Amino acid sequence: MKAEEIKQLTVIGAGVMGHGIAELAALAELQVSLYDISDKLVQQGRQRIQGSLSKLAQKGLITPEQAQGALARLKPLTRLDEALHQADFVIEAAPEVLQLKQDIFRQLDQLAPPRAILASNTSSLPVSQIAQVTRRPQQVVGMHFFNPPVLMALVEIIKGQQTDEATVEATVELAKRLKKTPVVCRKDVRGFITSAIFEGFIGEAMWLVSRGAATVRQIDSRMKYHEGFPMGPFELADLTGLDISDNIHREAGLDNPPLLEELVRAGRLGRKSGRGFYDYASGAGADYRPEEGADFDPLPLYALMTNIAARLLADQVTTAAEIDTAMRLGGGFPLGPLAKADQIGLASILNWLDEAYRRYGDERYRASPLLRELVRQGRSIGH
Ligand SMILES: NC(=O)c1ccc[n+]([C@@H]2O[C@H](COP(=O)([O-])OP(=O)(O)OC[C@H]3O[C@@H](n4cnc5c(N)ncnc54)[C@H](O)[C@@H]3O)[C@@H](O)[C@H]2O)c1
Repeated sequence: MKAEEIKQLTVIGAGVMGHGIAELAALAELQVSLYDISDKLVQQGRQRIQGSLSKLAQKGLITPEQAQGALARLKPLTRLDEALHQADFVIEAAPEVLQLKQDIFRQLDQLAPPRAILASNTSSLPVSQIAQVTRRPQQVVGMHFFNPPVLMALVEIIKGQQTDEATVEATVELAKRLKKTPVVCRKDVRGFITSAIFEGFIGEAMWLVSRGAATVRQIDSRMKYHEGFPMGPFELADLTGLDISDNIHREAGLDNPPLLEELVRAGRLGRKSGRGFYDYASGAGADYRPEEGADFDPLPLYALMTNIAARLLADQVTTAAEIDTAMRLGGGFPLGPLAKADQIGLASILNWLDEAYRRYGDERYRASPLLRELVRQGRSIGH
């Protein structure tokens, strides 16, 4: 299936992500089938699309005719065979549970035409494990949109172990047709690109506080008000949920920072439970102030992100340019982490990592050989 041949797109799951993806596709003049397991759910998805389209039209971002046209191209459906029988490209946006996604992909494989590409919007599950239940793993790919899909420019495309090049290319082209910026993750690694780098940002912040080297408010204040990130790592962790951070560490076989362990044990899971690092229920939430971060040195956070990025580069998962693009567009970073690393100086970063590794013996601090080699040659890591 070539991208220009894609006319009919089917979205599976009409929730937060599914309705947004369907809206984008309908705006890009594709015929869109939106499927969910009940009429109520699929109609809710359609209403959200209608609401969002009229907002875009009110803001003058699209014309009222474009809004109407997009809605007319959208078909809400609750019969899977009907949703799939003419599909050229399918994007699954059902809940993040491997077994559920595997069940869905078995059915997609049976019901969608043989030419169809089957994509999953999974944010963390191995695409290869979803693909393996189908008879067309070469046509199964990860297509990771960011929330909200209509506004976020990035799409991370994940090549599973068996995904063929033609499928990756068609998915890249489709992302462009949807007016998104694609980055390709050429190996099905844990956390893909963005979550892997975020682990350096959030994880190291948690270790620093666990060791008493800094406070939550100091770090958040520094990263937001002085370094230009949209929010500090703790505010971000509260937003995504501390149970999610906990899960990421467990699945990656990493030790949990004691601070995280304590909060999760106490049921403080972040915003969703009313309390995490900050108190959202009876307190003022993430109310850290600019002056609190003035004295915190952010080098450890940058060092960890650089080390993770260097490992991705050494493993040929992606390119330096794509890492920086992914973090600017998907994470709101003011500067890509590799451009920032060059600005700081790779030698300082390497020194910090070597010292941390000597002191704590934790694998996360073991410097990537690529980083060491670049420092030896006096080269930069950016693009
Ligand atoms: N929410 C985010 O910020 C975000 C960002 C990127 C990726 N994702 C990923 O997108 C996927 C969907 O997340 P979401 O936040 O939209 O979830 P959601 O709960 O809002 O939506 C999931 C939808 O799938 C439907 N569903 C349940 N079982 C189904 C089945 N068997 N077949 C078809 N549909 C079914 C549900 O009824 C629901 O409408 C997940 O894999 C998630 O990891 C989420």
